[in-house]
Amino acid sequence: MAVYSRAVAPSILSADFGHFADAVTEIEKAGAELIHIDIMDGNFVPNLTFGPKLVKDIRPITKLPLDVHMMVLHPESYIDELSEAGADMVTFHIEAGVHSDRTIQAIHRAGMRPGISIVPSSPVVLLEEVLEKVSLVLVMTVNPGFGGQGLVESCLKKITQLAEFRTRNSLDYSISIDGGASIDNRNLFWNAGADIIVSGSSFFKSKDKGEFVKTMKT
Ligand code: DX5
Ligand code: ZN
Repeated sequence: MAVYSRAVAPSILSADFGHFADAVTEIEKAGAELIHIDIMDGNFVPNLTFGPKLVKDIRPITKLPLDVHMMVLHPESYIDELSEAGADMVTFHIEAGVHSDRTIQAIHRAGMRPGISIVPSSPVVLLEEVLEKVSLVLVMTVNPGFGGQGLVESCLKKITQLAEFRTRNSLDYSISIDGGASIDNRNLFWNAGADIIVSGSSFFKSKDKGEFVKTMKT
């Protein structure tokens, strides 16, 4: 059994970067389960965001788990810093390097929960050798790099494939989806078997964020 069920993880990528602390308070007050933190390096994806220092600065102001999504080449280089900063879960891309198994072990050793992610053009089969070693699988449902993009529908089948693989092999990773989620399309993800929906632009655009989270879960 996965740890999460119909959980919402707002992404601070869509927050006002001048007011991260307010965004964290809004996420907590809204009743979300996780805070999703998108680290981008301008190489793995064509955008730059922030690094472990933001994780460190947010850590003392919330009890929510910090779900760090590394869209970077050489994710192994940042593990110790993220652990010291107080990250709970560190997800990196299988496409970002060769030695994903070693990176997963290093995340475990650093006392964090490892997650693995795939971009829309990668098939689930690419993940099979590591699925028994991760706590989270993050299915990108847009091409990573930016908030506010439309869902790539061909990714939905991967959620179901991952849920079936989990049952078949008695595993317990959570399945999270990232990108293009909204109140209108939420059931495409839940029905496919997602446990967590990451939401950036639709969460931060919503007027009543508590209502948004409540509705997302239905
Ligand atoms: C995109 C990021 C996402 C992003 C999602 O590369 O990984 O976490 O914040 O944003 P929305 O929900 O606006 O698609
Ligand atoms: Zn993300």
